[in-house]
Amino acid sequence: MATILINGQEYPLPEGEKLNAIQAAQRIGVEIPYYCWHPSLSVVANCRMCEIEVGSKDPKTGEIRMVPKLVPGCQTPAKDGTVLVTDSPKVVEHQRMIMELLLLNHPLDCPVCDQAGECGLQDYSYSNGQAVHRFVEERVVNPRKEVAETIQLNADRCIMCTRCVRFTREITHTGELQVISRGSHAEIDIFPGHPVANALAGNVVDLCPVGALLDKDFLHKQRVWFLSKHDGVCTRCSTGCNISSEENRGEIWRFKPRNNPLVNDYWICDEGRYSYKSANDPSLLTAMYARIGNELGPVLTDQALKSAGQELTKVASEGGKIAAVISPFLTVEEAYLLAGYIKGLSPDAVLALGAVPVVGEDQTFTPDKVKGRNGDTSFLDPKPFTIHAEKCPNRKGVEAVLAHFQGEVIDFNALTGRIAAGEFKALYYTSGSPDLWADEEAARSLRSGVSYLVVQDTLVTPLAQLADVVLASATFAEKAGSYVNADGRLQYAEAALPPRDGSLPDLDILAILGGRSGGPVESSAVLAELAAKIPAFGVAAGGKLPTYGALLGDAPAPLPTNGDAPTPFIDAWSKTRAQIGTRSGAGATR
Ligand code: SF4
Ligand code: SF4
Ligand code: FES
Repeated sequence: MATILINGQEYPLPEGEKLNAIQAAQRIGVEIPYYCWHPSLSVVANCRMCEIEVGSKDPKTGEIRMVPKLVPGCQTPAKDGTVLVTDSPKVVEHQRMIMELLLLNHPLDCPVCDQAGECGLQDYSYSNGQAVHRFVEERVVNPRKEVAETIQLNADRCIMCTRCVRFTREITHTGELQVISRGSHAEIDIFPGHPVANALAGNVVDLCPVGALLDKDFLHKQRVWFLSKHDGVCTRCSTGCNISSEENRGEIWRFKPRNNPLVNDYWICDEGRYSYKSANDPSLLTAMYARIGNELGPVLTDQALKSAGQELTKVASEGGKIAAVISPFLTVEEAYLLAGYIKGLSPDAVLALGAVPVVGEDQTFTPDKVKGRNGDTSFLDPKPFTIHAEKCPNRKGVEAVLAHFQGEVIDFNALTGRIAAGEFKALYYTSGSPDLWADEEAARSLRSGVSYLVVQDTLVTPLAQLADVVLASATFAEKAGSYVNADGRLQYAEAALPPRDGSLPDLDILAILGGRSGGPVESSAVLAELAAKIPAFGVAAGGKLPTYGALLGDAPAPLPTNGDAPTPFIDAWSKTRAQIGTRSGAGATR
């Protein structure tokens, strides 16, 4: 078995993976500090923060030969017999000097900098820097610039790691950012009049290890240490990017990408990034409504649910046909409960997939395999990033549920035709879409086709205004559950916010209507139930999913766990913070 020697101890090397020294050390919990390296970008080795002592062990004699100079860990492949020393006095002293160099011109504006609390410079300054510096000359003060509609560059904080430049060259192939001038005058800049304007632009803010590139949308609104992070899935298109939803006091303040090498790598698109705002929309429904006489007025939750349940049961018992629209914005658990409830009322009931919004065409960004990381020391194959034209998170999941309950998938248009033809007595309509599916005319047509209408939604839509009962349901942020993305991958999303006053999570609404007792419903319990009943969801046996999700129809096999995955670079710094104080003599630089 291939082995590597790190700080005097021998460790096995993972089979078939190409790791660099930083990654190999990370696997055993040894931190090699770094700035310019990023697992999805080419290796340039220009920050020199990761330099360590490197050597090799002769397999026959056991003799160790060390390279006389320090070597960048990001550029050092972890091979059989590689020797790494990351904690010698020589390495520690080097790190102190690099920190001193990087901080020569860096302003001391941490208290007002938006990166404070998640800044690589702050963290490594504390854990690997020194408390004094020797610089007495005048500092270079580079200007602040607007490099994109949403991005500000505080050039004086830049450490010239060039991650942002490489991203626009290797991932988006738009090349808006570049290094201008030389030496201490070097600056990141755009060509005049050509701002960063690609669909993934916000990722350069996440990539920046210091507070140089900042998101104007988030700027000065929150301190990061007040934010609670929740592992979510973006619901704005069928890619299903993994995100961290960050909230404080009942409001979401930003989305950040969460690494999933099988879906979105380290990226999200700007459309998804800023879609968090719809969870804070003040016009979201904050009460349930029921029609009394001709008037639709707010009622207690119990009353709305009782009224809807009794009337639907009555329709079914009198032989009236019921139709249900199951939204592709619902989770699979919700779709399963809704389909089960409606079919339980009447086996003749018809279930249809809600409207599937499609905008433009799929847009795919394929990482540059020549300039990019392929062939270097990173171990994962770069995955193309696609923004899907299909703007909903769970068409495939709802289709799989529908196929189970009625053997076929009826689309929204087919159902509206049948409603207009007078086939149904009652309609149960769900949406949760941030966009309007039925304008006033379409709403009037749906309403006039049935005698009884229940609308379960988050917004006051034209159809909700015509309903007999309006059930105020949860936004994507207020509910936990699973979605199936365009590749057929089932992924779990945590709730980031509690339910709004006056609303109920869809799962609870449906559990109450379906007569399930026992208080709030756990999505994992429903997932376990549906996984046992619907073979395609067998991957979620027991209500559990692997870290990176699982493909529908696959056997429930363990996929790579967090332990096998590269440490997301954002989190690497949090880990560093946890280790603060373990080095002797460490202290704040200056
Ligand atoms: S702006 Fe940030 S990401 Fe770009 S080179 Fe400077 S420090 Fe690196
Ligand atoms: S690609 Fe789709 S899922 Fe990913 S962040 Fe953009 S909108 Fe969200
Ligand atoms: S030189 Fe290795 S991370 Fe920058």
